[in-house]
Amino acid sequence: MSERVFRVWRGGADGGLAEYRVEVNEGEVVLDALHRLQATRAPDLAVRWNCKAGKCGSCSMEVNGMPRLSCMTRMSVFDEDETVTVTPLRTFPVIRDLVCDVSFNYDKAREIPSFTPDPATSPGDFRMAQVDVERSQEFRKCIECFLCNSVCHVIRDHEENQPHFSGPRFLMRVAELEMHPEDTADRRLIAQDEFGLGYCNITKCCTEVCPEGIHITDNALIPMKERVADRKYDPLVWLGSKIGVRPRDTPIAPNIRPPADG
Ligand code: SF4
Ligand code: SF4
Ligand code: FES
Repeated sequence: MSERVFRVWRGGADGGLAEYRVEVNEGEVVLDALHRLQATRAPDLAVRWNCKAGKCGSCSMEVNGMPRLSCMTRMSVFDEDETVTVTPLRTFPVIRDLVCDVSFNYDKAREIPSFTPDPATSPGDFRMAQVDVERSQEFRKCIECFLCNSVCHVIRDHEENQPHFSGPRFLMRVAELEMHPEDTADRRLIAQDEFGLGYCNITKCCTEVCPEGIHITDNALIPMKERVADRKYDPLVWLGSKIGVRPRDTPIAPNIRPPADG
């Protein structure tokens, strides 16, 4: 067991860093140290966690300036004499200590039009190609930890973009549905206009922090950008919109605005 120096965010938005010395055992993770801190010197420390196995997405926080799951971040990744600074996720309002208000995520999730299969197709008749199954399965590995949203510079460095940019997690969900072969809604407008796909400049930082190893940028964001570009620049799509013919004979989900032009 060794004693390590921690600086931990205490209080709300106007709080600050408090320094503690915490004993750490070999093999322990940051969340273990925070629990020991709660048990010894800071019983009122607010910290969210649940599974302690990297599967619930609750224990997200910033450790030395990087969004991480605290239950999966071993203390051994830091030098013995390194101070470990723990703060709440940067892109969500702090409630207290390490706990953030993540209601933005629930609001955004509700804005996504739900899965819209063709009513003429009976579920039993539909067959999916294996590649489509695997694509959905990859996106469905998401544990909603929101590390991707917290690392994305579009909102991390520009708070003013937050209302216009849903972050990679929800753009990925829109892409999942848009690329689902049985979904008939056209989600390209909502991706661009409501979820801010255009703000993403494919830096791949979200992909790098994803604890589930989801290729968010390559498999969701870039294909979605290609689809949006096709819609905007395809001359047949443009002509169709001018003469009132929809390029895909598909219903528009209720909260998608009709195209203003081609
Ligand atoms: S790839 Fe796009 S969404 Fe992901 S971190 Fe970069 S700008 Fe943000
Ligand atoms: S995509 Fe990855 S980083 Fe983003 S919320 Fe899901 S699991 Fe977390
Ligand atoms: S406690 Fe569940 S992911 Fe860390």
